[in-house]
Order: sequence, then structure tokens, then C-alpha cells
Amino acid sequence: MRSPQGQGRDIFATGIGAFTATVGSAIGLGNIWKFPYLTGSNGGAAFVLAYLACVALVGLPIMVAEHAIGRRTRLNAVQAYGSIIPGKRAWSVIGWAGLLSAVLIMAFYTDVAGWVFAYVPKSIAAFARGSVLGPADFGALAGGTWEPILWQAGVIALTAAIVAAGVSKGIERVTKVLMPLLFVLLVVCDVRALTLPGAGAGVAYLFTPDLTKLTGPVLLSALGLAFFKLSLGMGTMTTYGSYLPAATRIAPNAARVALADTAVSILAGLAIFPTVFAFGGAPAGGPGLLFNTIPLVFSKMPLGGLFTALFFVLTAVATIGAMVSLMEVPVAWLSEKAKMSRPRAGALTGAAMLALGLLATLSQGPVLGGVKILGKNFFDLFDYASSNLLLPLGGIAIAIVAGWLLARKDFVGELDKGYRGPRAFNAALAGIVKFLAPVLIAVILLNSLGILRLA
Ligand code: TRP
Repeated sequence: MRSPQGQGRDIFATGIGAFTATVGSAIGLGNIWKFPYLTGSNGGAAFVLAYLACVALVGLPIMVAEHAIGRRTRLNAVQAYGSIIPGKRAWSVIGWAGLLSAVLIMAFYTDVAGWVFAYVPKSIAAFARGSVLGPADFGALAGGTWEPILWQAGVIALTAAIVAAGVSKGIERVTKVLMPLLFVLLVVCDVRALTLPGAGAGVAYLFTPDLTKLTGPVLLSALGLAFFKLSLGMGTMTTYGSYLPAATRIAPNAARVALADTAVSILAGLAIFPTVFAFGGAPAGGPGLLFNTIPLVFSKMPLGGLFTALFFVLTAVATIGAMVSLMEVPVAWLSEKAKMSRPRAGALTGAAMLALGLLATLSQGPVLGGVKILGKNFFDLFDYASSNLLLPLGGIAIAIVAGWLLARKDFVGELDKGYRGPRAFNAALAGIVKFLAPVLIAVILLNSLGILRLA
């Protein structure tokens, strides 16, 4: 990542570093919290299927496009899009929209991350009392006023401090050790969940699609989730692409990131849904699904309360990598373009995120719970506006820049660097970026708006 001193741009030292940093951005609450929650609210397996198709046909190609643009320009997102096509500075709009998306996403993301952090001491306290955290505990936390705000402010301050100090390298080192541990703990949860009586219904819910459930809004949620989980459509992956070593083979690296990210989501789903069904709960549990289910799985294991705490510690670590990558987008721009020091840039960005974040957090409780815009509270509005509108629109714009405006030899040439596989592969990928990906995004967007009727 970037060094705090001077203008020298740091580059990930190794291919492994490039992979772990990108995975660190991709894997976070999107996998552990949002994937199960949206799958449950959108009817199960059909949504999962649509989501997987979106990752393969849209997510992966857009990630490749972002990495190629970032590495070609070696600039922050605003300047990268403003300079990649000579004479067409207006495309910097992608970067500007990305700054807005970063703030909107962080506004609700840090609320949820705050719940994750809060669940660490809460799990330990519940264990000491000999009880298990339940929906009433979650409701009191998420629907509270000062408690969630303090956690959220703490999470934002922590992220800003990490980004400001330019110590992301240290964070990456920690992440590299703890992410595999999260993976192992998820597998432990899965084994326990899958052996609960009645677990089979949860597995069927996740993997037996009922295609009549694929309505326009469900498809758009699946597409939005693919963008969100892979950190696409707003410049994060462009910025990370700008730190990629020249020797990194862009497409295979992106494919591995998408695979790892998908694997973690499926593992999370396999912990949640069998448990939900075994305990007779409802899969459409909304944003509280994770928090109400994980303590239940562990309640059926020795020392469960302590493992619940460990689970939330590891999830908290995963959220930090994702939040750092979100905050890096405005901070990279403020420090490179506006020549602001990184601590100042971090403080300013953090303040903006907290301002909107308070709206998101308070909209779940008595203070702003009554305020609805387009039928949504602030939390849902920020989530919807970013994942389902800004990121897919950003994806179309990125596909236009990489597929149509950038000379084909430059785009494919970037993908060919270090690549020794079949020639046709990168050319085909560029074709998907040019035609299939933007058309699919446009169709899904128009379809959900009712302008085009497919489903
Ligand atoms: N992908 C992360 C997650 O799944 C969240 C995230 C990080 C993100 N950077 C992003 C989402 C950029 C959208 C855009 O938790």
C-alpha cells in the first residue's frame, strides 16, 4: 500500500501480497452478514444462483477492467478515470461517484461493523452469565441510540487511524494470519450446523432453486451484491489495481479473488441456514440474521459463548480490511490530488462518514426510525442507493471506458502482462467487458425499474 511519506507510490511487494490485499478488501461483512441476509430475504437458492451468475459474467470482468485501468494509470480513482482516455477528462465522474459511494457504503457498513465489535464483549458477558445472546439483545443494540453510535464512531476512528498512518501493510500481515483462521472457524460452524437435527431443510433452501422467485428486484439485489462483495464499481479495485506489480497476471488473480470470496460466502450460508431451520426460525430475518443465528450454533458446542466471541473477533478483523479499502478511495485522492496529509485526509473522510453514519444508525431506533424516504429508512436507503444503483451504474461506465474507449491493444495488453496461457482467453474476456457485462447490467437495471419486462 502507500507509504505515508513522500510521493513514491508503493506497490504490493509480491504477487501473494496483491492477492491477499485484494481478498482483504473483498471479504468482509458482504460475505458474513449481507450474503446470508439477502439470500434469506430473497427466497434462497434462486437468488444464490443469480448471484453466482452475476459474479462470473459481470463481477469478474469488471474487476479485471478496474485492475487494468488502475495498473495502467497508477493513480487514485478520480485521476485514473480522468486521465486514462486522453482528452476525455469527464470520465473522472466515475471516481467522483466512487467518492460518494464510499461515504454512503461506510455510513451503514460501520453501523454493522459496530454491532460486530460490540458482540465480542457481549458474547463473553453472556457466557459468564450462562446465557445465550438472543434477538432481544440484538434489538436493544441495533435499535439503541448511544450504544451503537459509540461503537460506530470507534470503528470509524480505528479505520481512519489505520489509513492515516499508512500502516495498511501491518494490517495486511495480521489479516493474512487471521483470515485463514476465520475460514477454519466457519468450517467448524458448518460441521456443527449441518449435523443439527433438521439441518437438511437449510441446505435445500440454499441449493434447490425455485426459479419463479427470480423477479426483477431479486435479480437487481443479486447484481448489487456481486458488486458490493467484490468491491466493484466505485474505484476500490481501480485503486488497488494501481498498486499491483507489473508481473501480476490480472485475470487469474481476479478469478482467485472471486473464488475465495464466493467460498467464504457459501461457508457462511452453510453455517446460517441449517441453524435457522433447525431452530425453527425464519430465513428472512433481515439485517439481524447473522447476530441472531451465530450464538445459536455455538450454543450447541462446549464453551460456545467463547467461540461466539472468537467468531466476532475474526469477523471484525475481516471488516477492517474492507473498511480500509473503502476509506482508501477518498484518502488516496485527497492526499495525491489535494496534497492533503494522510492524517488530515483520514480525519476529513472519517468525519463525512460519521455524519451520514449517524443518520443510518439512528434510523434503526426511536430517534429517526420514523423518517422514511421512498419507503426506506436511511440505513436501507444508503444500502440500496449504493449497491443497487451507484455501483452497477459505475460498472457500466467502467465497461465503456475499458471496452470501448481504451484502445483494445492497451486493454488486452495490460491483461497479457505476465500471462502465458492461451491468447484467445484475454481477448474473450475483453469482449465480455465490452458487450456482455454492460448489457447485462443495463438489462437488470431497466428490468427492475419496470422499463423492460423480463421477470
Ligand atoms: N467487499 C466488502 C465486503 O464484502 C465491502 C467493500 C469494500 C466494498 N470495498 C468496497 C463494497 C467497495 C463496495 C465497493 O464486505
